[in-house]
Amino acid sequence: EAAEKAGYEHFMMKEIHEQPKAVRDTLHSVIKDDAIDLSGVGLTEEEIKSVSQIYIVACGSAYHVGVAAQYIFEELTRIPVRVELASEFRYRNPILDPNGLVMIISQSGETADSLAALREAKKKGIQTLAIVNVVGSSIAREADKVFYTLAGPEISVATTKAYSTQLIATYCMAVQMAYVREMINIERYQNLISEMLKLPDKIEKILYDKERIQWFAAKQANAHDIFFIGRGLDYAISLEGSLKMKEISYIHSEAYAAGELKHGTISLLEEGTLVIGVLTQNDLYEKTLSNMVECKSRGAYLCGVTSYGNYNMEDTADFVTYIPKTDPLFVTSLAVIPLQLMGYYVSVAKGLDVDKPRNLAKSVTVE
Ligand code: G6P
Repeated sequence: EAAEKAGYEHFMMKEIHEQPKAVRDTLHSVIKDDAIDLSGVGLTEEEIKSVSQIYIVACGSAYHVGVAAQYIFEELTRIPVRVELASEFRYRNPILDPNGLVMIISQSGETADSLAALREAKKKGIQTLAIVNVVGSSIAREADKVFYTLAGPEISVATTKAYSTQLIATYCMAVQMAYVREMINIERYQNLISEMLKLPDKIEKILYDKERIQWFAAKQANAHDIFFIGRGLDYAISLEGSLKMKEISYIHSEAYAAGELKHGTISLLEEGTLVIGVLTQNDLYEKTLSNMVECKSRGAYLCGVTSYGNYNMEDTADFVTYIPKTDPLFVTSLAVIPLQLMGYYVSVAKGLDVDKPRNLAKSVTVE
C-alpha cells in the first residue's frame, strides 16, 4: 500500500495532487485542435440542437458538480436545467420533457440511487447521458451515451480528482452545446476553450501554497461547527467544501447560500465560530463580503477564499487564501482545491483515518 501511495501519507493527498493530470487528460480527451469534439460521447449536433431541458441527477459530490453545472449550462446555453438528488428523483415520478436530456453523474457508475434514476429516465423514454469514471460500470453500460472522465482509480472515500474531472466534463458539454446552438460566437468559444486548457497549471499553482493552508487548518482541529457561505457558483463550491470538511474531520459543517444566513443560521454563530466565505464571483463579491462583516460582528472567525487582486478582503477576514484568475464560469475547479486541502489537514491534525472515514463507503451500492 505504501508503494501505491507514491510517497504521500494518504491516498487523498496523492489524489489531490493528481488533479492537474486528471483534468488535463479529461480535457484532451475531447479537445482537439482548439475545438471540442463530442463524437466519442455520441452526441450529434442535431441532438444538441433539439434538447429543450436538462436534468442532472446524482448523489454526493457528483450532485455538487450538478449544482455548479446548472449555473454554467444555463448561463451558456440558456437551456433550463434542473439538478436533483438521485434518491429523490427516482421516487417522485418526475415529469420529463420528451426532448429533455437526463445527465447522470457518477464516479463509480454503481451508486444504487443513480442507477435507479437512470433506469427510471429510460423507462420514461427520455435520452440519457452518463458522466462516469469507471469504464464498463453499470451506469456506463446502461446509459445511451457516456462521457468518460479520465481521473483514473480513486481510492480515498472522499472524492477529489473524480469531482474535478466531472466538472470538466460538464464545462466541455456546456461550451460545445452553447456553440452548436449559436449562443456564443467563435471568439468566445475559443476563449473559453483556452481558459479551460489553462486550468491544470493553475491547480498546480494552488497546490504550491498548501503549507499555508495546513498552518491555518491545523488550528481548526477543535472547532465544533464550521459554516461555508457563498452565492451563485460560490454556493456550489461551498456545498462541496462543507461536505469534504464534515466527512473526513467529523466536524459539523453546513453550506449556506450567503443570502439565506439571516433566515436561520446566523443564530448559531458564537464567539470564534469559523465561517468560510467563498467569494470568487466579481458581481457578487460585495454582497457576500457584507455577509461576512455581519458574521464578524457576531463574533465569527473568518476565512475567505477569493481571487488574486481582491486584497481588501484582508480588512475583514482573519485568513485569506487566493486562487488564480480564470473565467468566472470555471472558478469552481480552482476554489475547490484549498477547500479540499482544508478538510484534509483538519482531519490529519485530528489524527483521523483520512482515507476511510467512519461509516462511509466509496461506492453506495445499496439504498
Ligand atoms: C459516496 C462517495 C462520494 C460520492 C458519492 C456518489 O458517498 O463517498 O465521494 O460523491 O458516493 O458516488 P458516485 O460513485 O456515484 O460518484
